[in-house]
Amino acid sequence: MVNIAVLVSGSGSNLQAVIDACENGHINGRIKIVISNREEAYGLQRAKDASINAVFEKDEKRVIDIIEGEDIDLVVLAGYLKILSPDFIKRFENKIINIHPSLIPSFCGKGYYGKIVHQKAIEYGVKLSGATVHFVNEEPDGGPIILQRAVPVYDEDNADSLQKRVLEIEHELIVDAVKLYCDGKLKIVGRRVHTNGK
Ligand code: GRF
Repeated sequence: MVNIAVLVSGSGSNLQAVIDACENGHINGRIKIVISNREEAYGLQRAKDASINAVFEKDEKRVIDIIEGEDIDLVVLAGYLKILSPDFIKRFENKIINIHPSLIPSFCGKGYYGKIVHQKAIEYGVKLSGATVHFVNEEPDGGPIILQRAVPVYDEDNADSLQKRVLEIEHELIVDAVKLYCDGKLKIVGRRVHTNGK
């Protein structure tokens, strides 16, 4: 059984998708702890409702201590609006994944979070957007890509409607990626991630 920590800053709908998939046995793992850098994050409530240990902690050193104390195999950043330090990333090398609401390498990196991502996609005029789950390295949104899925962008779209459409597929994508990780199917080969375990 893979021990998972989920880090959130907000609503935690991606967290909820992973909670549900662990509970119904689709994911061969268990969420041992949910940590938020924002006390009012609804994600903490979702964790409590699922009887998962929920912690509000802003200090990164303490976050590291907590994760190390829980014997965690996988750290999932699910709407965690804080850049991790190189020390954090090194300690959990190839064990941290993040979900980003665009098709990386478009509309990502420093400053691209929340609604801004979708606003920029609309302004640029792309016809497809989507979501990406990737391993985390020192470059913001720059680590090896695990899975991507696309959605259409329609003439009538604004940042809100596009965000909503992307969020729906995020919930599928994060579950698929965590499942692959927990089943031992992910192999990093240079910048590429093989998903067949070979
Ligand atoms: C998602 O769009 C995710 O891609 C981004 O932050 C948002 C979090 O949403 N990193 P939620 O808290 O999971 O509802």
